Amino acid sequence: MTRTKVGIVGAGPAGLMLSHLLGLAGIESVVVESRGREAIEATIRAGGREQNTVDLMVETGIGDRLRREGFVHGGFEFRFDGRGHRIDLEKLTGGRAITVYPQHEVLKDLIAARLAAGGEIVFEARDTAVHDVATDPRITFTTRDGEARELRPDVIVGCDGSYGVARPAIEGADRQDFLRVYPFGWFGILTEAPPSSEELIYARHDSGFALISTRSPDVQRMYFQCDPSDRVENWSDDRIWNELQTRVAGDGFRLKEGPIFQKNIVPMRSFVCQPMQHGRLFIAGDAAHTVPPTGAKGLNLAVADVFVLSRAIESWYRTGSTDGLEGYSATALRRIWRAQHFSWWMTSMLHRFDDATEFDRRRQLAELDLVTSSEAAATTVAENYVGLPLH
Ligand code: DHB
Repeated sequence: MTRTKVGIVGAGPAGLMLSHLLGLAGIESVVVESRGREAIEATIRAGGREQNTVDLMVETGIGDRLRREGFVHGGFEFRFDGRGHRIDLEKLTGGRAITVYPQHEVLKDLIAARLAAGGEIVFEARDTAVHDVATDPRITFTTRDGEARELRPDVIVGCDGSYGVARPAIEGADRQDFLRVYPFGWFGILTEAPPSSEELIYARHDSGFALISTRSPDVQRMYFQCDPSDRVENWSDDRIWNELQTRVAGDGFRLKEGPIFQKNIVPMRSFVCQPMQHGRLFIAGDAAHTVPPTGAKGLNLAVADVFVLSRAIESWYRTGSTDGLEGYSATALRRIWRAQHFSWWMTSMLHRFDDATEFDRRRQLAELDLVTSSEAAATTVAENYVGLPLH
C-alpha cells in the first residue's frame, strides 16, 4: 500500500498537467496510466492551443519547445460561397492568438517535466479500479510486471477519458448526463506537403465541412466531414484530394497536394457529466465532457479544469478549507457549458446536415455573412476561439 496526496487516473493532458501544477505547489501525486509512454507520445490528436494553455505552459516552465516549434496564428479564415473571410483574432481580442502545437507534443513536454521533477507515472497499469470514493478513496491496479498495487490518496482525480473507470464512480441522485451525437464525423489526414495557407481555414461547402490546418513546414493536417461509419479504406489519396479541393474551391485557391501518410475517422459528439465530484473523487477533461472538434476546445478545456482543481487542492492543504473543492464542479461547468455552446455552434454553422432544407442552407450562409462582416459578431467568435481568460 502506498500513501500519496493525490491519486490521478490517466496520463493525458488533464492528468499530467494536474500532476505538474500540484508538483509546483509542493503537493505530491501519483499518475496511473493504462497505455505505454511510447503510445501516448505517438497518438495523433488535435493541434489548436488557446492563449490560456500557451500562457500556462510558459508560466510553469514547460513552454520552451512550444515557443520554438509551435505556430502562432493571429487569425483564421472562414471560407464559404467560394471566398475566404479573415477573422483577425489579435485585433479583435487585444493581442490574443492561438498556437498550433499538437497534443502529443504537449504530452511529451509534460511527461519529461514530471519525470525530471521526480514525479511518479505508472505506465501500462492493468485492471485499474477506484474504490470507496465517498469515504476512504483507494486506487488498485496491476503493474506491467504483474505486481498488485494499492494507492491510498487523500483525493482521487479521474482524468481517464470518456471510457475510463472514474466517471462511472460519480454516483448519486443528482448525477446528470447530457449527450448529443452528430450524424457525421471528421476524416483526418496528414500529408507531406508545404502549407497551402498561412492560417487555418474553416470551410463550409454544400458537400460538407473542411478544415485546413498544419503541423510543420513539411506536414499538413486536414479534415473533411464524412459519414462516421465510413472506412478509411474506401478513400484513395485521389478521392480525398478531390473532395478537399472541391470543398475549399473558389477565387483560384488550390490546396498543395502531397503523399498522404495517415488517415483516420473521428466521430463527433457533445457530452457533459455533472456534477464533476462525488465525495473525494473529482473528474476532469474527457472523463467529464466531450466537445466536437470544431474550434479545438478539447485539450484547452481539460487544462482549464485542472487549473481550477489544482488551486482548490492547494487551498485545501494550505488552509483546511474545502470551499474550493466543493466549488470545483460549478466553477468548471460554467466554462465547460460556454465551450459546449461554442463548439456546437461552430459545428452547426459549418457542417452539412442531411435533413437540412434550403431555408437551413441560406440561414447558415447568413450566419457566416454576419460573423465575417459585423465586428461585434466577429469579436464574439474571436473571444471564444482564443479562449475565455483562466483567472
Ligand atoms: C486542429 C483541429 C481542430 O479541431 C481545430 O478546430 C483546429 C485545428 C488541428 O488538428 O490542427
